Amino acid sequence: MANDDQFKKVISHAKEYGYVFQSSEIYDGLSAVYDYAQNGVELKKNIRDYWWKAMVQMNENIVGLDAAIFMHPTTWKASGHVDAFSDPLIDNKDSKKRYRADVLVEDYCLKIEAKIEKEVKKAEKRFGEAFNKEEFLSTNGRVVGYQEKIDSILKRLGQSLENEDLADVKALIEELEIACPVAGSRNWTDVKQFNLMFGTKLGASAESAMDLYLRPETAQGIFVNFLNVQKTGRLKIPFGIAQTGKAFRNEIVARQFIFRMREFEQMEMQFFIKPGTQKKWFEHWKETRMKWHLSLGMGADNYRFHDHEKLAHYADAATDIEFKFPFGFKELEGIHSRTDFDLKQHEEFSGKKLQYFDQEDKESYTPYVLETSIGLDRMFLAVFSNALVEEELEDGKTRTVLRLPAVLAPVKAAIFPLLAKDGLPEVAKQIVEDLKWDFNVAYEEKDTVGRRYRRQDANGTPFCITVDHDTLEDNSVTIRHRDTMEQKRVKIEDLKDIIKAEVDVKHWLQRMK
Ligand code: GAP
Repeated sequence: MANDDQFKKVISHAKEYGYVFQSSEIYDGLSAVYDYAQNGVELKKNIRDYWWKAMVQMNENIVGLDAAIFMHPTTWKASGHVDAFSDPLIDNKDSKKRYRADVLVEDYCLKIEAKIEKEVKKAEKRFGEAFNKEEFLSTNGRVVGYQEKIDSILKRLGQSLENEDLADVKALIEELEIACPVAGSRNWTDVKQFNLMFGTKLGASAESAMDLYLRPETAQGIFVNFLNVQKTGRLKIPFGIAQTGKAFRNEIVARQFIFRMREFEQMEMQFFIKPGTQKKWFEHWKETRMKWHLSLGMGADNYRFHDHEKLAHYADAATDIEFKFPFGFKELEGIHSRTDFDLKQHEEFSGKKLQYFDQEDKESYTPYVLETSIGLDRMFLAVFSNALVEEELEDGKTRTVLRLPAVLAPVKAAIFPLLAKDGLPEVAKQIVEDLKWDFNVAYEEKDTVGRRYRRQDANGTPFCITVDHDTLEDNSVTIRHRDTMEQKRVKIEDLKDIIKAEVDVKHWLQRMK
């Protein structure tokens, strides 16, 4: 299936099965704002819990926080967001469409990258088992040429953005002959910076109202609480503060469903460390976060690191964990070595000391910070799009199955009476009553069992349990596995353990070791 088609299928499946709806749809929707429906909210909660358990519950030295969305406006002056949280934008004069200039250039590079992938596939076919991908990438003339071109374009883009040389970003777009995807023309305006924060007002009257911002990241709530948490929790460096919560950005390029939203949720952790140890901790968190992703079994080939050429104003090293979305490899999570920039800025703007006293070394210092930051909605899209497959069956038919990692699936088991009579519904409902203390389960009695299986497959439910007439005799039921479609006869009393073995967080998180 072409990637475009796959992405459209993801969006329509998310709607059809009650995962994600366009916000305020009855009023024609609100661009780049989405609502999570009955299944979506469960999947989102399970992803959030999986992150929270791995980051907070499993680490003695990481604690949680839930800071408010509204913060004192000086926060954003100190953090640099008022002055520097902007995107370089360019308009096409014919289509009147606005684009992020850096994204236009990066998309151009992705097209070259697709050519490399094509060459690799061709060579793989030609050489069969003897194929050595690494050797091919470093020796094949055409591929090396493509890679050099990508590297030089990205280097120049990075330098121009670093130097705020927006005229050169425009020159690069013109030299590469990048055309507007809508108009097809190269009739571009100059590149301009545009601040992404949403403003709002606090206060009853227009004269006394205070200008506020909706937070564009959750991280600053952690920084301003750093000393309160450290002191009340008696935390010793190194330690971390984690939080999940909404963030808001007035994104201009917002065409990719829940990939880039104007209201979204972040899961961030700031790890406070001794200055000078940041390289070690950067490597540690790179590795740990990648292990977390891999523990979900979504395929190691679907992830890669992308080290930043252009560093944000606060960072001395940064990398992205990129995921292969239906539209290509894109950022899923950022790992940033933020130095002591934020704490120092807040010290300066608030006039309050935000230093840590090291009992062992008997010295005070401003800690350095290692940040891991992942978008919950983006993780949702990664999980959901990766899970959706059309599978060919042995009898030539196809089935749509949402192979969600069982630990994240919204509903863990669906319980059916074979027929809606003869006392079978009562037994099935009793199983629901017993299992619901431990798992989110569903009851269904409409349609044939085959259809119910298909519906639950498409919904991502790992197990279906059918109660039939034999159940009344021997207390056993048929349990069917979503992925293998294997059916087994098991005792009702064993159901809880069978489901637990597959959906338990411990079973999944232990893969990180
Ligand atoms: N505190 C650092 C920070 O906010 P970021 O790279 O701007 O860094 C971190 O954002 C993560 O938040 C991204 O990797 C992405 O997963 C998510 N994210 C950022 N902007 C987003 C948006 N408009 N919609 C959905 N997710 C977004």
